[in-house]
Amino acid sequence: MMMDDYGIPAEYRDCTLESYPRTLPPALDDSQTPRIAQWFTRIEAGDQPLGLYLYGPVGSGKTGLAAASLRLATEQGYDGWFTTVPRLLQSQRDSFGDRGESPMAYALRIDVLLLDDLGAERPTGWAMEQLDDLIRERVAELRPTIVTSNFTLPEIAERLGARVADRLGGFCEFVHVPGPSLRIPAT
Ligand SMILES: Nc1ncnc2c1ncn2[C@@H]1O[C@H](COP(=O)(O)OP(=O)(O)OP(=O)(O)O)[C@@H](O)[C@H]1O
Ligand SMILES: [Mg+2]
Repeated sequence: MMMDDYGIPAEYRDCTLESYPRTLPPALDDSQTPRIAQWFTRIEAGDQPLGLYLYGPVGSGKTGLAAASLRLATEQGYDGWFTTVPRLLQSQRDSFGDRGESPMAYALRIDVLLLDDLGAERPTGWAMEQLDDLIRERVAELRPTIVTSNFTLPEIAERLGARVADRLGGFCEFVHVPGPSLRIPAT
């Protein structure tokens, strides 16, 4: 699969941890950004956790921060892929019968995967199985994975099952990215 800029959408290509808007209260707590900034540095040093889970309300800047984290990894020479969970599942469905590597196979093996919007997919049995497989495999193979979600881990457990949530729980560093939405101009 060929990837233009690791699949990062144009809206997020210039997002860095430094460009995260901090002037709008309540910005992400100052103690939180270093945890995001150091996440990949620590992995390179052989440390855990290998997962980074950014959660919070709509528009709080999770995807921008996640794209910035993915960028830190690709700047170190790692191969990365940004995909939203609904789009990954849709393209996997659409790829049935195609020759070549499926989107899910690519997601399983890429060095660093950014799964944007976990919980935004329709929680069908098939979707739950696919995500269960993907997360189990990436955890088992110790592959760095960034997840963003509007849902807390207990809410993910309700939506996608205890297995997915339990694996993520043991694998990820959790960072809460609070609102308000950065998409609404402050008045
Ligand atoms: N690090 C950043 N630097 C500059 N702008 C950013 C950064 N992160 C986010 N933004 C901007 O803030 C807006 C909202 O951010 P983002 O899309 O990341 O929110 P989100 O938390 O992922 O929302 P949702 O829950 O709807 O997915 C976007 O317009 C984005 O471009
Ligand atoms: Mg987002």
